[in-house]
Amino acid sequence: MRRRNGSGVFGALRMRPEVAAARAPRAQAAGVTHDRSEPHYRTIIEPHRVKVVEPIVMTTRAQREEKLAACGYNLFGLRSQDVMIDLLTDSGTAAMSAEQWAGVMRGDESYAGSPSFFRFEAAARDIFGYTHIIPTHQGRAAERILFGSLMKPGQATLANTHFDTTRANVEFAGGEALDLVIPEGLSPSSRHPFKGNIDLVRLEQLLAARGPAGVALVLLTLTNNAGGGQPVSLENIRAARELTTRYGVPLYLDAARFAENAGFIQQREASERGRPVLEIAREMLRLADGCTMSAKKDGMANMGGFIGTNDDELAERMRNLLILTEGFPTYGGLSGRDLEAIAQGLYEALDEDYLRYRLRSIEYLGERLREIDVAIVEPPGGHAIYIDCRALLPQIQPLEYPGQVLAVELYLAGGIRSCEIGSVMLGRRDAVTGQEFPAAMELVRLAMPRRVYTQSHVDYVIEVLTAVAARRGELRGLRMVSQPKVLRHFTARFEALS
Ligand SMILES: Cc1ncc(COP(=O)(O)O)c(C=O)c1O
Repeated sequence: MRRRNGSGVFGALRMRPEVAAARAPRAQAAGVTHDRSEPHYRTIIEPHRVKVVEPIVMTTRAQREEKLAACGYNLFGLRSQDVMIDLLTDSGTAAMSAEQWAGVMRGDESYAGSPSFFRFEAAARDIFGYTHIIPTHQGRAAERILFGSLMKPGQATLANTHFDTTRANVEFAGGEALDLVIPEGLSPSSRHPFKGNIDLVRLEQLLAARGPAGVALVLLTLTNNAGGGQPVSLENIRAARELTTRYGVPLYLDAARFAENAGFIQQREASERGRPVLEIAREMLRLADGCTMSAKKDGMANMGGFIGTNDDELAERMRNLLILTEGFPTYGGLSGRDLEAIAQGLYEALDEDYLRYRLRSIEYLGERLREIDVAIVEPPGGHAIYIDCRALLPQIQPLEYPGQVLAVELYLAGGIRSCEIGSVMLGRRDAVTGQEFPAAMELVRLAMPRRVYTQSHVDYVIEVLTAVAARRGELRGLRMVSQPKVLRHFTARFEALS
């Protein structure tokens, strides 16, 4: 297969020279990677090979036009077989490894005390370090149980940014969710290396003003999904630990993408260059009193989650609630086979070669889009690229849904499914007057499932985007013709504006 840079199949997934140079000395000291006598190749290949394949059904534009019209131009309405490259989400969509599938076969489905639970608990405890590891069927169940057990109505949670299910669960528990990300985290073009950091000045002001009685916990989302998959620095986590200890408030992590966050710390935080990523992750996670975890991301599993905590009394209350809705504490809504897949997946997410490839492959997509003048949220995040559609399609007004227009075009032009994160998902309609209010940004997210697509799939996405961007001036807006009362982006229907 020939590539544009002529350097082989994966030639373009190269390590940036400054990263390669910075990584070498400490990695050697730790005995982690390269030996000076070994040739140092710059090409990063996918650190896995294919054992099982799933066919992609190739479709024509005419077929896709028919499918899309049938579901009212809403990509959530498509059947997945009608999608060629599915970038809707990175959640629960990972390809599992041979070792994970072996674990699936070993899974013991006993109701209580399964060895699969103890393997899962040992892995999560080894990496995360918390005394109590409580399995749940996915991240939002962990959130509901944590906030339902820890919050008193009227209390606040202070976060860099709450993910939408997190905010919903805080509010469901009667709390107030306040986002305190640093100002750079709200600016799409800022290239700050840790745009997920919490604003420590505002955090201290709120801790001082509300005190431990008014704040249930401080939460750091690693990486910050709602803010473009941007990381939080180790320095920022340490400072948040220091403040929360001083004010007597617990510190929790939303650890869904803990490994990607640790990988960014290794690459971007001067004091951490070349330190083994497992060691960084262990320190990062142990700075907190506990976590919620969606194992559908950096657990490399298709289903699962857990809560971690060092608080014995809280753990007992959470287990009581768990039994009501999730299941017995040694399975928490999961099969023994799911627990085995997570036990293995947590370590695989921290593999140095995997993480380097993972972060670089997203960065690669971002670099190519920049070259074709498609503005993105900078710098590229750990799991996705977010395209700025206000910049790409200035002729389309926010309430004509430029993000949805791009998402529709990517599907029609190349069978690519992406996700609008703009006025369709986050815009607001006044219940009394029916007036619509646009979202702050009009984004389309290209989320990369873990280990699923190869560089040629990514190059295909770039080619399709290049073709769509070349016709950007011809694209016209959409009208929303029906919508449900809540979470409208899942089922709203659209029509082309004439
Ligand atoms: C940062 C973050 N927290 C929590 C969740 C919720 O996890 P789940 O989808 O497993 O319920 C997600 C899901 O996308 C997420 O990205």
